[in-house]
Amino acid sequence: MKIDILTLFPESFKPFEESIISRARKKGVLDLNIIDIRSFTLDKHKKCDDAPFGGGAGMLMQVQPVYDAVKSVLKKNSKVVYPSPSGRVFNYNMAKELAKEKHLIFICGHYEGIDERLIDIFNAQEISIGDYVLTGGEIPTMAIVDALARFVPGVISEDSLSEESFSDGLLEYPQYTRPQVFEGRSVPEVLLRGNHQEIAKFRHAESLKKTKKNRPDLLKGVQDEN
Ligand SMILES: C[S@@+](CC[C@H](N)C(=O)[O-])C[C@H]1O[C@@H](n2cnc3c(N)ncnc32)[C@H](O)[C@@H]1O
Repeated sequence: MKIDILTLFPESFKPFEESIISRARKKGVLDLNIIDIRSFTLDKHKKCDDAPFGGGAGMLMQVQPVYDAVKSVLKKNSKVVYPSPSGRVFNYNMAKELAKEKHLIFICGHYEGIDERLIDIFNAQEISIGDYVLTGGEIPTMAIVDALARFVPGVISEDSLSEESFSDGLLEYPQYTRPQVFEGRSVPEVLLRGNHQEIAKFRHAESLKKTKKNRPDLLKGVQDEN
């Protein structure tokens, strides 16, 4: 899969030079490029912002550099994503769907965001990562790309995708590793006995308990469907 990320702050994407994403890039299963929007500005001072029509606090990103940056990578099969607090809230299933695309282009907003006409021209999907406002689209883009990359074949093992939070509508069960006793707290007995049926039953019950406590809204979704 090819992903082009357009940003005024390319250095923000250093985390993608580490760990799983870095390995996927080296293996060639993720062709991830970070593109500096500022290199497309025609302004001799490299200015990339402008005041919004109608007034109001803050500046907007200039249309021309963003437009030219998108055009430089846009293909017939590209899907443009604009992370924005005004978008639909991102979730597990959206990550899975995005992972099926051949080419994704992310526009990282900054200041007060981008000109609405860019969203229309490129039919950009607006995606929010939650009901709060961050200073820029770099962190949201990283969160969305990281989450969808896990569903791109070859990035992580198939096993890691099963029985994780949201995969079956519930949160994941609690997990434990060595030592068996830590700070006076023991690992649940059932996990030590090696009875796989019992372990599965225990884990499902714990999953339900955790979901009920932390995300009762997920259980409501399951009940409504039935
Ligand atoms: C300061 S924000 C702009 C906020 C915008 N004026 C508003 O009130 O909705 C700058 C950029 O950060 C990104 N951003 C901020 N919060 C976000 C969120 N919750 N989800 C996705 N992107 C977000 C967007 O790309 C946005 O253009």
